[in-house]
Amino acid sequence: MPTEIYLNWGTLSRTWPDVLQKMQKYQLDYEINPTVSLFEGWGRLWETQKKVAGFFKAQPTDFYFRHNVTVAMNDFILGAELPPGDIVVTDLEYGAIVNICRYRAEKDKRNLVTILIPMGDELKSEDQLVDLIMKQIPQKSALLMISHVMTGTGLKIPLQKLAKRTRERKILLAVDGAHGPGVTDLDFSLLDDVDFYGGNLHKWFRGPKGTGFGWAPERNHKIIHPLMAGWTTFETPIPFMPFGEGHRWNISMLMAYCLNFNAFYALSDAVDEWQKRDPRKVYAGLQAKRMFIQNEMTKSLGWKVLSPLVESLQSPLVTFELPAHFASQGFEIIHALRNQKNVTVSITPLKGSYALRLSAHIDISEDQILDGIRRIKDYFHS
Ligand SMILES: Cc1ncc(COP(=O)(O)O)c(C=O)c1O
Repeated sequence: MPTEIYLNWGTLSRTWPDVLQKMQKYQLDYEINPTVSLFEGWGRLWETQKKVAGFFKAQPTDFYFRHNVTVAMNDFILGAELPPGDIVVTDLEYGAIVNICRYRAEKDKRNLVTILIPMGDELKSEDQLVDLIMKQIPQKSALLMISHVMTGTGLKIPLQKLAKRTRERKILLAVDGAHGPGVTDLDFSLLDDVDFYGGNLHKWFRGPKGTGFGWAPERNHKIIHPLMAGWTTFETPIPFMPFGEGHRWNISMLMAYCLNFNAFYALSDAVDEWQKRDPRKVYAGLQAKRMFIQNEMTKSLGWKVLSPLVESLQSPLVTFELPAHFASQGFEIIHALRNQKNVTVSITPLKGSYALRLSAHIDISEDQILDGIRRIKDYFHS
């Protein structure tokens, strides 16, 4: 069997090796005296939350940890007071998050409206895209839920521009940032018009598995009611006082129960890792890998690129149209490629069909990418 080639960093990235090691150390340290570790946990969690929020230029009291973006999106889509009106999603969203919207819509007897987003060379500019989105949102809409980076095509939404327009129309904007942190310079000091953002830290940011966050600007705290109640819902009992500097909303969003803290603690090391590497260099490296994949796949297989061709709308995810007879095989291709060629890709559901999506982080070399593409070609041509 040839060596493993991993070209699906978009589904889950490998944790930075040093961060993984630190987390394992924290786990062992925790077990020396689990009771003391639990009680010391709340203050240390707060320090970590402040550090991670700072990396994304967020107020720590607007930011809270969750195990993943799905939980964070539940917090807002199910937990927020919404004005009357439709819930709007796009046709490129991740199914699980659409289901949260559908669940809320069905509970409230609201319409769930799907708007259409173009692909590939049909996307001309950020302004064209924002105009297209805004034009399709029905007059009486309460909420737009949209991804920061689309799972299917890797399209990156110009959030600042979109948020300005949704706020003018008094439509709440909830962003699914599964692929935001670690892909682009996510800066919450520029995103005040966004109403809610859920992020994953176990994808492109390369934190430990089971780490993510929610973020909401102060003006929205009063409309977001925690979905879970526990020790910190109404007041802050003494053991929890080291957390949150008395900020009632933030403390009420705390996962205030026996918790495996260690994955979250290691996020402090993940921030150090990013600072050491210089985030701008990592983003530029990801873009270079993405373009390399796109160019080499085009040379080798010549399949249509479904991801945007305009650079400011691109992300490290690149998607290719599969010939019809392969598209009908769907997810089976993932297993067959892994089993026969030891290369891992994503097959992504896209507008009623399936497409091939490749993604690589900076430590995958060009030689590995070329080898991976050769194996993909062998598989499809055999
Ligand atoms: C756009 C998008 N949203 C949400 C998710 C769900 O992520 P998680 O299972 O970590 O909550 C994914 C996962 O790939 C995704 O691509």
